[in-house]
Amino acid sequence: MNLFLKKTVYFACIFLCSFLTQAQEKLSFNKGWKFYEGDVPFPVIKGHGQSYMNAKAGSASGAAAPGYDDHNWRTLNLPHDWAIENPCDSTENVSQGYRKRGFGWYRRKFKLDPSDRGKHLELQFEGIATYATIWINGSVVHRNWCGYTSSYIDITPFAKYGDEVNTIAVRVDANSMEGWWYEGAGIYRDTWLIKRSPVHIITDGVYANPVKLASGRWEIPAEISLQNTGSKPVIAQVEVGLYTTAGKLLEKKEQSITINTLDTNSVTLKIQTSNPALWTLESPTLYQVKTIVKLNGGIIDSLSTKCGFRTLKFDADSGFFLNGKHVKLKGVCNHLDHAGLGVAVPDAIQEFRLRKLKEMGVNAYRCSHNPPSASFLDLCDRMGIMVMDENRNFNSSPEYVRQLQWLIRRDRNHPSIILWSVFNEEPMQGTEIGYQMVRRMSHEVKKLDATRPVTAAMNGGLFDPVNVSQAVDIVGFNYQIWAYDRFHKENPTIPLTSSEDVSAFMTRGEYTTNNSKHVFDSYDTHAADWGATHRNGWKAIAERPYLAGGFVWTGFDYHGEPTPHAWPTVSSFFGIMDLCGFPKTAYYIHQAQWLEGKAVMHLIPDWNWPADSIGKNIKVMAISNAETVKLFLNGKLIGEQKADKYEMNTWRVPYQPGKLMAIGYVRGKEISRYTVETTGAPVRLALNPDRASVKGNGIDALPITVEALDSKGRAVPYANFKVNFTLSGPGRIVSVGNGDPNSHEPEKGNVRSLFNGLAQVIIQTDETSTDQTITLIASAEGMKPAQLVIPVKQAPALSYVPVISSNQLLDKWLMSEMSISKPDPKKEIAENDMNSWQPSTTGKLQKMTGKYVMYRSNIKLSKQQVERGSEILFKQLTGKAEIWANGEKIGEKTNAEPSDFKVGLPKDKTYSQITVLFQSGVNEKTGFGGVVEFR
Ligand code: GAL
Repeated sequence: MNLFLKKTVYFACIFLCSFLTQAQEKLSFNKGWKFYEGDVPFPVIKGHGQSYMNAKAGSASGAAAPGYDDHNWRTLNLPHDWAIENPCDSTENVSQGYRKRGFGWYRRKFKLDPSDRGKHLELQFEGIATYATIWINGSVVHRNWCGYTSSYIDITPFAKYGDEVNTIAVRVDANSMEGWWYEGAGIYRDTWLIKRSPVHIITDGVYANPVKLASGRWEIPAEISLQNTGSKPVIAQVEVGLYTTAGKLLEKKEQSITINTLDTNSVTLKIQTSNPALWTLESPTLYQVKTIVKLNGGIIDSLSTKCGFRTLKFDADSGFFLNGKHVKLKGVCNHLDHAGLGVAVPDAIQEFRLRKLKEMGVNAYRCSHNPPSASFLDLCDRMGIMVMDENRNFNSSPEYVRQLQWLIRRDRNHPSIILWSVFNEEPMQGTEIGYQMVRRMSHEVKKLDATRPVTAAMNGGLFDPVNVSQAVDIVGFNYQIWAYDRFHKENPTIPLTSSEDVSAFMTRGEYTTNNSKHVFDSYDTHAADWGATHRNGWKAIAERPYLAGGFVWTGFDYHGEPTPHAWPTVSSFFGIMDLCGFPKTAYYIHQAQWLEGKAVMHLIPDWNWPADSIGKNIKVMAISNAETVKLFLNGKLIGEQKADKYEMNTWRVPYQPGKLMAIGYVRGKEISRYTVETTGAPVRLALNPDRASVKGNGIDALPITVEALDSKGRAVPYANFKVNFTLSGPGRIVSVGNGDPNSHEPEKGNVRSLFNGLAQVIIQTDETSTDQTITLIASAEGMKPAQLVIPVKQAPALSYVPVISSNQLLDKWLMSEMSISKPDPKKEIAENDMNSWQPSTTGKLQKMTGKYVMYRSNIKLSKQQVERGSEILFKQLTGKAEIWANGEKIGEKTNAEPSDFKVGLPKDKTYSQITVLFQSGVNEKTGFGGVVEFR
């Protein structure tokens, strides 16, 4: 390269870097937390001095105090759900899956580079179950009373830099319940530290949702909200550009905006475009809106937001239209949890679950009954699944309106979201109070997003003179099939949807109901009294054009709510799939009813019946979307039936081992076939990964199906034995599940029984810097083991807030008056004297007005420190100094120059007070030039 070129590249780089380094930095805070399960009671405060200090900022006590000794606590990474680690216990709450929740504490220390000084620092917890209190450096900074809303905390005023250590403490009260389902316990969603310029785009501060104009063109009225925590008002330039997925700029707008100091302001820039590729279910195209904030010509913040172009319409007579095209909502309701993971579900597993649903024909998802994680909605955007986003707490008072506003602000850019639901089944839904609340809540939603309708999932009150259906845009029916027509007739102008239906019971792989064993057959014959079978539930919706569609309760089983049973059952029966995502019969029923343009055929039961069943009539069901179905046993035609698209087809077949086969026809032509076959005894194990490789980024996860095969390689559906797993390579086993609602086997560990032929192991990768492999071996008594080698591809890891191992710090000192004569280092401070010594800290020097000054700090030694002795390190101690501990002189620094100085605390003695007596000349500077550590 010639010199000129080199220079140009060099300057271009400096120019770019100086801009880019100013943009916001998002660091994962998931690594290296200390955790204690249980509550840590706060010390009882009796003395006046303690009472006085307890009331002061920065002086939290107990485990909330920065200096609390947590070295014995467990170290773990987030997301974390401690409830799923606990055993099933009949004395615990049935709805929460009989798992102890209780209390837990998390602590995390971190340092900030001196170059971070002056930046705006925000700590984000995406979700903590359930009530959380959060401290930074001994000051309480946030209380979050909802397990499903995020906490965004400006920690800038509390932050310390350089050698000084910051401490976050989080107390989680998971005894508090917001649901009647398994809610998990702990910091179960991602946690972040965002470093921004003092003038910045606030969190969720870009609203960029395209709308179609009457002219046929599209407009994004991009609303950008900015904050200025700097010390001067500024005039910033805001630039918004619309880009295609491929990065092509379509349109750009720019405007300046004044933001006063410690204030916020927003600006709306309207971008227009024509003929964008639409966001559709088949091809969910996403565009990017890039926001750039400039100050004095330099970029100080930037953010990329995804959006999609699509229109929605709910019609009172003809249902729902996406992009002008009629679409029936084929939806499912779901809770958050998965086998073995509880509610701490990695994105890769969310993706797996959504993919399973989509393969079943699902086009809509109801987040019942709470907001999901932000990354979950990104997946729905990307995969083309429509979402009903639901608020958790039904209340129109300020704190709960704040929760609702958070939901709308966070989620309103997602093209996948088509409905805001303000509540589920509230007893006040048919009252004046309920109506007044929904009126207000709906208004709050509209203020933030008027482009999507508001709904509420009502299970009653629909015909009361004043009820919430009068305050929403779309009425959602939970169950109440009987009410569909009546309500429509009495309210012909209100668009309707089923918001929840079915609630049928099924146990995967079981074909005989056994009430005493809490087992349901898989013929779709059992439903809750308020619900319907899968077949009847859908028929009622499909036959009513005015209904936009429905949402089956539920897509997947979930921990807790084992209705209609209770202990020893610990998870639900409602799922179309079990806890692991293994399909039950309902899965194929919905496939047959919902998949368009794809031939479906499935046959139940499996064809392994005991010898005494030979000749007995077995109920056979062929599930298909054919016109006619023929059934054959061992090649012999059993019968032919016209297919019933709602009911499916059933026969009574005298059992003979062998092959049972169904063939589906349309206009006489075969379109589908399915065979079930009698297998031999299991002889070996098989491991089937959901994907061929994983990313070595420390977060990717992979579900692996475990099966037992006979000598001909056929899966044996009755295998129920224990399987052991061993893993080697850069990863770990994070869950073992089998979908049996009656199983109490641990869901963590490396052992799990097959349930009706299947189990699931989920592995998660470590961070790798090269391509590697993980080897998983499954073994069981009498079986040939299975070995699976999974390629781990090197992939960029997230940037993390570095984990530090720090010594404890003595950073809270009291400083005496300065004096000319030497004071007594043993001098006591009266309990009620709050004023003759003043609070001080480390890292700064004092100009002396006398010759002597004393500093005093309390110290708390652990049992270990007393037993083995401890040490205090004063960094950059400046001035001559005597060090005293509980009235004993333990060290002396005889020179005045700043230097690191160490003193030992002899073992077997409990010290509680350290005094440092400085000596210097008047006008000289003395004090703690750096931190004071003890270990
Ligand atoms: C509904 C409720 C759901 C679930 C379901 C079980 O009433 O909204 O959360 O409890 O019943 O059938």
